Amino acid sequence: MSTSSWEDVAIIRLAHFSDIHVTASDCSWRLGDWLNKRMSAWINLHLLGRGKHFRHSERILIALRRELRQRNFDRLVFSGDATALGFEEEMRKATELLAVAEAPGLAVPGNHDYCTHAAMRSGHFERYFAPWQSGERIGDADYPFAQRVGNVWLVAVNSSTANRLYWDARGRVGAAQLARLEKLLAGLSPGPRILVTHYPIWLSDGGREHTFHGLRDLDDLIAVAERGGVVLWLHGHRHENYHHACSERMPFPIICAGSTTQHGRWSYNDYTINDSHLRTVQRVFVEEQGSFRDGCVFELDLPMPRQV
Ligand SMILES: [Fe+2]
Ligand SMILES: [Fe+2]
Repeated sequence: MSTSSWEDVAIIRLAHFSDIHVTASDCSWRLGDWLNKRMSAWINLHLLGRGKHFRHSERILIALRRELRQRNFDRLVFSGDATALGFEEEMRKATELLAVAEAPGLAVPGNHDYCTHAAMRSGHFERYFAPWQSGERIGDADYPFAQRVGNVWLVAVNSSTANRLYWDARGRVGAAQLARLEKLLAGLSPGPRILVTHYPIWLSDGGREHTFHGLRDLDDLIAVAERGGVVLWLHGHRHENYHHACSERMPFPIICAGSTTQHGRWSYNDYTINDSHLRTVQRVFVEEQGSFRDGCVFELDLPMPRQV
């Protein structure tokens, strides 16, 4: 194991947003949808009140698009849950609102985007987010893939999978993808690696996700990330914005962007990476003004990248 420094890293600007949960009124329901997880997700959305938390999504995403154009980001990072029910119509609307063809980005799917096995197999997420899915990969598998921004590698891992039971929101990376990730991380040119995934390592209080909301093979993914020189883990899935600095428990910081569109939690993160220093400005939506303002600011030191 040799060490490479941050010396050549220019200032890099990233926008990180997540869990926008776009809905659409023209979704194509099929008979089987009334019997699968989509039905329980619909009940949760329309009858149990989840939908009202996202009623301003469209307005917020129009404001976000304006922000992203104005703030000179080098790369846009989206960590999943573009949709509420994983419908193609929702995916189309989400990518139109985000204007994915206009600026360079990186996107990974969330568990809602793979709401059913049919939604996962359809490839709708990968097709509509295609402009944000380019990069270095192993063979022709969709995930993982890596994009270079300055001297930093952003590495996208798919941690989401369809589940059958309505209370099951677990994710899985899978042995095959983990093997590809190990190979990809080892083969990339020197430079810090930033992992982007939907699922978290910890909750905001440092505890683990409960059994049916977490990542089945989290420990395996952490082990591959550590061996591959990851210096930062970006994720969504949890809808509150929080972070954890490096500690004895984890050799790299972890940042959850939270939901960009959920009422009262609506924000995204504006990152400036300067050498090994990361400055984050949370940009919070202001309902009365229809625009974003600065929220909390935090700074983190990223560990020295290791080169395999
Ligand atoms: Fe979500
Ligand atoms: Fe999620």
